Amino acid sequence: ELMKVFVTRRISPEAMKILTTAGVCEVSLWDSEEPAPRSELLKGVQGAHGILCMLSDEIDAEVLDAAGPNLKVISTLSVGYDHLALDEVKKRGIRVGYTPDVLTDATAELTVALLLATARRIPEGLEEVKNGGWSSWKPFWLCGNGLSGSTVGIIGLGRIGMAISRRLMPFGVKRLLYSGRTAKPHATEVNGEFVPLDTLITESDFIVVSCSLTPETQGLCDKAFFSKMKNTAVFVNSSRGAVVNQEDLYEALSSGQIAAAGLDVTTPEPLPTNHPLLTLKNCVVLPHIGSATYSTRRTMLALAVRNLLGGVQGTEMPSELALSSLKSSC
Ligand code: GLV
Ligand code: GLV
Repeated sequence: ELMKVFVTRRISPEAMKILTTAGVCEVSLWDSEEPAPRSELLKGVQGAHGILCMLSDEIDAEVLDAAGPNLKVISTLSVGYDHLALDEVKKRGIRVGYTPDVLTDATAELTVALLLATARRIPEGLEEVKNGGWSSWKPFWLCGNGLSGSTVGIIGLGRIGMAISRRLMPFGVKRLLYSGRTAKPHATEVNGEFVPLDTLITESDFIVVSCSLTPETQGLCDKAFFSKMKNTAVFVNSSRGAVVNQEDLYEALSSGQIAAAGLDVTTPEPLPTNHPLLTLKNCVVLPHIGSATYSTRRTMLALAVRNLLGGVQGTEMPSELALSSLKSSC
């Protein structure tokens, strides 16, 4: 008997081929570049043994109930899993597949690009060239602060945080601080100093958020956080928008409390075009493109499909989330 799987978005022909030629699945898919409306998601998952979803799909109790008791696996095309109601998932004995590692380099690269673009005011410069604001070379026009000799603070020195740190070292960073739940032995490779969060906030010239979104990190970067940062410091977030209180960030940026911010993630996504943050010259916002290289997305898709296949067959999944070792959020 074929396993029913629901794929929440159009995927590449290559990924479809892996999925269909395995001969174990009856595949239905939301065949669009755009997300399925909630009603279509709830309809699509009915009776499914497996779901392949995107980070933009909120997989909560309602979706799990709509799927029903057949559901064995949720395979998400992302390293983040904050869009999955894990307590509900665990309760139902459903397995979860995700895509760590394969997107680490691409995401770290984009984070460094965003940091440099923000610190060196690249989008602002481009805008001035186009709008006639470039009247001549001027000693302090469009100046920013560079990485050389700076102190960088990484919030969350996981795989991606490490990959960012490795890429930043050659720029001449003087000190690399990191914070998190525990000190990481691998930090020695980048001379990382494990410090309390407050020390990281007050001493860093660049703060990079690279932690996952959990109840502990939700809203972590708020008014109190920004008020402790240096006025010259740059804030970068490529993890999840909800780690930041955006109203407090707006206040910090518009009042000169901090120098600039670069965000690859926001709340909500997409950020409405009339959002106050988009009126600020010192805020660079990208549309969640951390892992967006062709080869990374292809590899992520292949991995997500293999996770799905393993899950529906009750065999090994190449990247299964270890649900038992995660802290419960309730
Ligand atoms: C991207 O944000 C991901 O979680 O893969
Ligand atoms: C977070 O998921 C990381 O890999 O750093």
